[in-house]
Amino acid sequence: MTASDAARRRAAERAWRALRPQVAEEARVLGEESDAFLARAELALLDVHEPLAVLYGDDAADDLFARALRIALAAAAERPAALRRLDRRREIDPGWFQRSRMQGYICYVDHFCGTLDRLPEHLDYLAELGTTYLHLMPLLKPREGENDGGYAVADYRAVDPRLGTMADLERVAAALHERDMSLCIDLVLNHTAREHPWAQAWLAGDPEYAGFYSAFPDRQVPDAYDATIPEVFPDRAPGSFSWVPEACGGAGGWVWTTFWPYQWDLDYTDPAVTLAMLGEIVWLANCGVDVFRMDAVPFMWKRLGTTCQNQPEVHTLLQLLHALTRLAAPGVIFKAEAIVAPDDLVPYLGGHDRYRPECELAYHNSLMVLLWSSLATQDARLARHAIGRMRPIPPTTTWVTYVRGHDDIGWAVTDEDAAAIGVGGHSHRRFLNDFFAGHYPASAARGALFQENALTGDARISGTAASLCGIEEALERGDDEALEAGIRRLVLLYSVAFAWGGIPLVYMGDEIALLNDDRYREDPSRAPDNRWMHRPVMDWAAAGRRTDPTALEGRVFGRIRRLGEVRRSLLALRGGAESAVLDAGNDAVLAWRRRHPRSGAFVGLANFSPSPQAVDADAVTGLGAFVPVLTSDGPPEVDGGRLVVPGLGFAWLAEP
Ligand code: GLC
Repeated sequence: MTASDAARRRAAERAWRALRPQVAEEARVLGEESDAFLARAELALLDVHEPLAVLYGDDAADDLFARALRIALAAAAERPAALRRLDRRREIDPGWFQRSRMQGYICYVDHFCGTLDRLPEHLDYLAELGTTYLHLMPLLKPREGENDGGYAVADYRAVDPRLGTMADLERVAAALHERDMSLCIDLVLNHTAREHPWAQAWLAGDPEYAGFYSAFPDRQVPDAYDATIPEVFPDRAPGSFSWVPEACGGAGGWVWTTFWPYQWDLDYTDPAVTLAMLGEIVWLANCGVDVFRMDAVPFMWKRLGTTCQNQPEVHTLLQLLHALTRLAAPGVIFKAEAIVAPDDLVPYLGGHDRYRPECELAYHNSLMVLLWSSLATQDARLARHAIGRMRPIPPTTTWVTYVRGHDDIGWAVTDEDAAAIGVGGHSHRRFLNDFFAGHYPASAARGALFQENALTGDARISGTAASLCGIEEALERGDDEALEAGIRRLVLLYSVAFAWGGIPLVYMGDEIALLNDDRYREDPSRAPDNRWMHRPVMDWAAAGRRTDPTALEGRVFGRIRRLGEVRRSLLALRGGAESAVLDAGNDAVLAWRRRHPRSGAFVGLANFSPSPQAVDADAVTGLGAFVPVLTSDGPPEVDGGRLVVPGLGFAWLAEP
């Protein structure tokens, strides 16, 4: 511990001693639960006072600490009884989100069922698939016109009127909770829409909001920052600043806009922003949200001369918001959306040199990217290497494992990892883009390049999982053999997501192999953003064929549902234990092992080659004695002591 750490801890304790009698008095509104609140406050002390001092200075910390505690206390007092009961259950079972029963589903409300009030009608469908965790894509009131798929929020306390009302959202949460399912929504905290009242008050010169956003009168500072910031949307929103004539008291200024020009970055160097955002989070938590998907968090703190991503203060800020949210609503958890390189990812789960509670969940972006890379190269070496050298995650957290999401796939493969297996990073990323855009005759993928940067040659990929797996192409050609290969690819990827040991997410439509949807082109507010091609509208007629084993939908739905069924029976697939990649003596096969302290070992095998591949049973201790619990093609063949995994097939094996 450095001297200043020790001093900060003493300062935190001092502040709490001074404040406690008053807070204890005020906490009497909580009735019998006031003790619990005070106990939580005491536990969270280091995660609140110290971060405030680090971010905003020692002198400001005591006052901010008192203000933050009161926001949490007010929210705790307003928390509905049903949610308090849920909190209590989760305090008893803090690993509730790590259970192997956890299985996610993500959808846009309008594309899935039209409006929120219709959602409860579809819970049987979700339950049939095994869903216990529902992530509804952005549904808070966005700005009019272009809104980045809802990521430009104009009001955190209202639902998009096209989808329903806050009361509808509360009813959805209650309906989910009744079935022991949880609700996740996006919290867009890096920026607001320029139409948000905070932005409008800032523009109007309201002193209370003076520090909420940042603007610069000329290009000097923006140019200095832009020199090292990678562009998110280089084609239509180059740079990280947008000229706003009304800014700077009407003189005009360059406003910080990392994403689209209408998404204005909040300035978290102003503690008023942090406290205001806390107010929105706990308010939403009290509507029944269980999990907040913390959107675009790497960008929340800027530093000249850096990429302005993953700055240490981002983590301090998340730790602070996390501790305060859980003070008010202990059943609520955070999921980090940090689409960053493997080394930068684990810290979002609190995995620093010294553990600090941060987010309980994070998207395993590296695994997702490497699955697609392995599929393209028919080779799992890069996955084995890059994942194998990732730092372990804290046992109180877990991954969210997924195959496809609403965003493009950005090839977060580092040059170092590529070099370790003898390929160039840039050329490999280029290859993946060409492969999934279907530029190679040997590729059946039907994706499209997103944000191609002519200057650097960089690009990302859009397209639904089914289309990227070759299903669209096979259907068009009427080639059933190719169709089966496409289905096998899709199920293969999901077999890893379901058995890696995090919460697997099914992206709406993947369970029935929905293809790219080009209708977004007809909507001028969507046409320029081809990510809409993989945000299709649910095809309920197709879903109606999900139990027909001869239909495409049945062939996929049945297999994905089965992954969930078997997963639920395996204690080894609970979070809280590490997955270790293994070298099973065959480069086409990704092999990994898990072992939960309360269960025997589990080994997963995924063969990315279209032809059968033998793995060395001896290379994996005990593998010979393991029992297959789920395989793509029936009992696995053993050939001279080697276990054969069928082409594009998988095997889950477990210690009896
Ligand atoms: C996240 C979202 C993405 C959005 C961006 C800006 O990365 O996933 O869709 O464009 O944040 O909010």
